[in-house]
Amino acid sequence: MICRHPPSLARKNIRGHDNDLTSNRYLIHAPYGGKEGRTGSWRALVEAQQAGKIRSLGVSNYGVHHLNELESYIKELEGENGKGKAGAISVGQWELHPWLTRPDIVEWCQRRGVVLEAYCPIVRGQRFDEPVLQPMAKKYNKTPAQILLRWSLQKVFNFGLLLPLDNSADIC
Ligand SMILES: NC(=O)c1ccc[n+]([C@@H]2O[C@H](COP(=O)([O-])OP(=O)(O)OC[C@H]3O[C@@H](n4cnc5c(N)ncnc54)[C@H](OP(=O)(O)O)[C@@H]3O)[C@@H](O)[C@H]2O)c1
Repeated sequence: MICRHPPSLARKNIRGHDNDLTSNRYLIHAPYGGKEGRTGSWRALVEAQQAGKIRSLGVSNYGVHHLNELESYIKELEGENGKGKAGAISVGQWELHPWLTRPDIVEWCQRRGVVLEAYCPIVRGQRFDEPVLQPMAKKYNKTPAQILLRWSLQKVFNFGLLLPLDNSADIC
């Protein structure tokens, strides 16, 4: 599940799922809303996690400065709530593929063990004709989509939940 700002919406959104068992994970969709909006949304997600409604928390489309801000906020919130009671950034979603490698974000996450999820892993099929891709597809007898998914796998990006439903993009 992905939440959008402001924090009051995050709370309402979570309350709307009161009858669900739990959410496995809940991501803040984008760093909109300024510092107050971002930290307020995180606080709302932590409340829901403490109430047992969400298992793990994450963010999407955050820049490194937003990640640093959140890391500091988590420490601050631990001061209020107690150690380990301010949530942890378990997972993050970014557009990641060979033409958008985001090394700063990847390094930040890998140093901290944050699971990276690559969205648009096959670039919506818009780059299948790239000169760099065609010879590889031919050499390995794979489709361009398979080559791109393999690139993500070798980078240890997770995209298990981010694939389109079309089965033509089989993982190789
Ligand atoms: N967190 C975020 O901000 C964010 C942003 C964007 C996406 N996402 C998530 O990431 C997931 C994947 O993103 P995405 O679907 O935009 O990117 P993608 O996986 O790179 O592209 C999928 C699209 O590529 C097209 N395509 C062309 N050739 C294909 C082939 N051989 N096999 C399969 N598809 C092919 C299809 O378009 P047609 O259907 O038109 O054929 C398909 O919908 C989405 O489901 C979404 O939940 C998250």
